[in-house]
Amino acid sequence: MPDHTYTPVGFFSGEKIPLETHKARMVQRIYLRPVRDRVRIINEAGNNTFLLPNRDVFLDMLTDSGVNAMSEAQYAAMLMADDSYAGSETFYRLEKTVLDFFGKTRFLPAHQGRACENILATAYVKPGQFVVTNYHFTTTKAHITRLGGKVHEASRDEAAKTQSEDPFKGNFDMEKFRAFVDANGAESVAFARIELGTNLIGGQPVSLENVREVSEYCKEKGMKLVTDASLLADNIYFMKVREKACEKMSLREIVLEIGRLSDILYFSGRKLGCARGGGIATSNEEDYGKMRELVPLFEGFLTYGGMSVREMEAMAVGIRETLDMDVVSQTPLFVEALGSELVAKGVPVVTPFGGLGCHLDATRFVPHVPQDQYPAGALAAAVYIAAGVRGMERGTLSEQRNPDGSEHLSNMELLRLAIPKRVFTLAQIKYAADRVGGLREHRDLIGGLVFEEEPKTLRFFLGRLKPVGDWQEKLAAAFLKDMPSGL
Ligand SMILES: Cc1ncc(COP(=O)(O)O)c(C=O)c1O
Repeated sequence: MPDHTYTPVGFFSGEKIPLETHKARMVQRIYLRPVRDRVRIINEAGNNTFLLPNRDVFLDMLTDSGVNAMSEAQYAAMLMADDSYAGSETFYRLEKTVLDFFGKTRFLPAHQGRACENILATAYVKPGQFVVTNYHFTTTKAHITRLGGKVHEASRDEAAKTQSEDPFKGNFDMEKFRAFVDANGAESVAFARIELGTNLIGGQPVSLENVREVSEYCKEKGMKLVTDASLLADNIYFMKVREKACEKMSLREIVLEIGRLSDILYFSGRKLGCARGGGIATSNEEDYGKMRELVPLFEGFLTYGGMSVREMEAMAVGIRETLDMDVVSQTPLFVEALGSELVAKGVPVVTPFGGLGCHLDATRFVPHVPQDQYPAGALAAAVYIAAGVRGMERGTLSEQRNPDGSEHLSNMELLRLAIPKRVFTLAQIKYAADRVGGLREHRDLIGGLVFEEEPKTLRFFLGRLKPVGDWQEKLAAAFLKDMPSGL
C-alpha cells in the first residue's frame, strides 16, 4: 500500500478513535484479582512490578519488549525455520532483510538489544571515554559504565519538560553536543549514540533533520555515529506525520536515509520486528571485523547469535511489516487514545504523546512523595492496587546510585503504561484510564517506598521495597468504598 500521505480511517461522528487494522484470532484469558489480594500480591513482589507473576496481572503494561502481538505471517514463517548451528537458511533470510532494510552490507546477530550494547561497548569504550547521546537507556549506560566509560547527555532542555508542544523532544541539542566536543576533544568520544526514539523520556521521537545534523557533525569531527533503532517503528511514524520533509517520503525511504546517516545501527528485535532477538548492522569492514569476533564469545555462532531460528524467521517478517503505516501507526494512535482520556480526567501525563506507552508524571500526580521515596515507583504500586495494571517505573529507581552512594535523582519521575503493539482493545484502554482517573481522586493517600533489598546494578529489575506506613491498606479501603465488589 502506498504511504505517501497518511490518514487513519475516520468516523462519521468525528470521534478520534484508533481503529484496529487487524483482527484477533488467538486470545489469552486474563484475571483481575480483588483489591485486598492486590495489596498482598504487590507486597509479596517487593512493591516492584518487575517481580509480579503475570497470572496476577490484569493488563500487563510493563513493556512492549517481546510481548507485541505477532502477525499470522510471522507465525507461518516460524514453521519454515531451518535449524542448524552454522549457515542456516533462516539466518541468511534475516540477514538479507536487515541489510535491505537499513541499506547496509554487514549484519551481526545478538540475542537482544542489550547484547548488542555489550558488544558495542566492549569493542569501542575505553576507560575514561564518553558516549555522547540524546538520552541514555538503562542497559546502555550500565554496559558503558561497566567498562569505565561515561555517558554524556546532549539532550534538549525541552526533553525534561513533561508538558510541551515540541514534536521532537528526543532531538540531540547540537549546541550542547558541539560545546562538549570542543571542551573535551573528539578523541574522548568513543561514539555518539542516537536513540530513535527515546525510551526514558516518554517515547519522544527524533527528527530526520536532527539525525542528519548529528551525522554530519560526527563526520566532520571523525566520530562514529551509532543508532539505537529499537524504537524505530514509532519514530518513523512520527517523522512521517510530524516532519514536513518526511511527509512525501515512504517509510522505506526514511529508514534507508537513517541507515545512510549512521555508521552502525543496532536494535532490540523484541521491539523492532516484534519477535525476540536483536542485531547490529554496518557497512564498515573494520567495524564489522572488530565486533564480529565478540559474537561467538558472548552470543553464539555468527549465524544465530543466541537466537532460536523460529524467532529469527518471525523477526525478518516483522521487520518487513514495519514499513507499513497501518502497522506502525497502531501504537502511537493507542498511546494518544489513552493519553487523551487521562488528560480529560485531569491526570498529569507527558505531552506531546510519544510512542511506546503513555507516561504518567508522578512529580505532579503525587507531589507530596519525596524523590528519595521513589514517587514513580510508589505510583506504580498504587496503580496495580487500583487496577491490576502493571506499569514500569522510569525515574529515580531506574537510576544507578552515584559512586559515593548517594541517590542520583532523575530529572523526571515517570510511570510508563506501555502499549505493546496490537495487544489491547479500546475497552481495556478505557478501563486503564478510568482506574487511573479514580486513583487520582485518592492521590493524597499514596505514600512513598523504601528499599528492603537493593541490588548494586540495575536495581529496578530485582530490588525489593516496602511502603512507608500503611498507605496501601488505606488506599484499598477507599477503593472498596467506590467499588464494593473489590474488582
Ligand atoms: C531504546 C532501547 N535500547 C535498548 C534496549 C534493550 O533491549 P533488550 O531489552 O532487547 O535488551 C531497549 C529495551 O527496552 C530500548 O528501549
